[in-house]
Amino acid sequence: MKNTVVTIQKMKEDGEKISMLTAYDYSTASLIDASGVNMILVGDSLGNVILGYEDTLSVTMEDMIHHSAAVARGAKNVLLVTDMPFMSYQTSVYDAVVNAGRLVKEGRAQAVKLEGGREFCEHIREITKASIPVVAHLGLTPQSLNVFGGFKVQGKSEDAAKRLVEDALAVEEAGAVALVLECVPAKLAALISKKLRIPTIGIGAGAGCDGQVLVYQDMLAMFSDFKPKFVKHFANVGEQMREAFAAYDREVKAGTFPAEEHTYAIGDEVIEKLY
Ligand code: KIV
Repeated sequence: MKNTVVTIQKMKEDGEKISMLTAYDYSTASLIDASGVNMILVGDSLGNVILGYEDTLSVTMEDMIHHSAAVARGAKNVLLVTDMPFMSYQTSVYDAVVNAGRLVKEGRAQAVKLEGGREFCEHIREITKASIPVVAHLGLTPQSLNVFGGFKVQGKSEDAAKRLVEDALAVEEAGAVALVLECVPAKLAALISKKLRIPTIGIGAGAGCDGQVLVYQDMLAMFSDFKPKFVKHFANVGEQMREAFAAYDREVKAGTFPAEEHTYAIGDEVIEKLY
C-alpha cells in the first residue's frame, strides 16, 4: 500500500519506527520500494554521491527534478520526499512555493524537504497552504556549511540545544509533517522526538528518533570519499562492484566473455551467402 504523510503520522502515534533511504534513480528506487522501507528521500546529497561535488551547494532545481522524476517511476509504495536545493527557497517565500510546486508537478514528489528552523516558518506555511507537505531539516544542515565552518555535531551547548528545541516546535507549528534531525546528540534528539507530535527522522541522531534515514551509497559502502561516525555498512556492495568490474575487464580481454549463451544465432546458410 502506498505510504503517505498520513501513514507516517500514524506510525508515530502507534510507536512504529519509520525507515527512509535516499535514492536518485529508477532502478535503486524500485529495489528500495520492494524492501518494505517506508520513505525515499531524493536528497540534494546527490551533489556528493551522484555528481561528485564537494558539497550540496551547486545542486540545481533541474538536477532535483530530473532525479526525482526518475525515482518517482520506481516508487510505487514508498512516500517520496524531494529536497529543495540551495537557493530554491532561501530567496523568498514566493520562490519557495513556486519551486516546491515544480518538485511536485515535474519531479512527482509527494512532499518537499527544506533546511532551517524559525527563519523558514513562513515558507513552510505558504508551501503547506499550496497543498504540498513539507519535511523540515534541523541540526547539521549541509546547505549552511559555510556558516557552520564544517560538518559538526549541532546543539551541544545549552544555548544551541534550547534553540534546536524551539526551532523544532516552530516548524511543527508552521505545518511541517516531519522533521529530519542530522548530527544531533542522541539525548537531545530523543527529547525533541517526545515533544513533537510529528515524526522525527534521524541521521546521526540516535535511536530515540521516530525513524532513521541513511544515504544508500553510505550504507552499502559504495562511497568512500568520507565515512561519518553515524554510518553503518549493511553490505559491502562497493567492494563487490569493484570485483565485478575487474572480472568483466579480465574476461573481455581474455575473450571468455561473451560466451555462446550470451550470443544470438543465425543459420550458416545465411552467413555463407555473405562471403
Ligand atoms: O540530502 C540528503 O541526503 C539529506 C539526508 C542526509 C537527510 O538531506
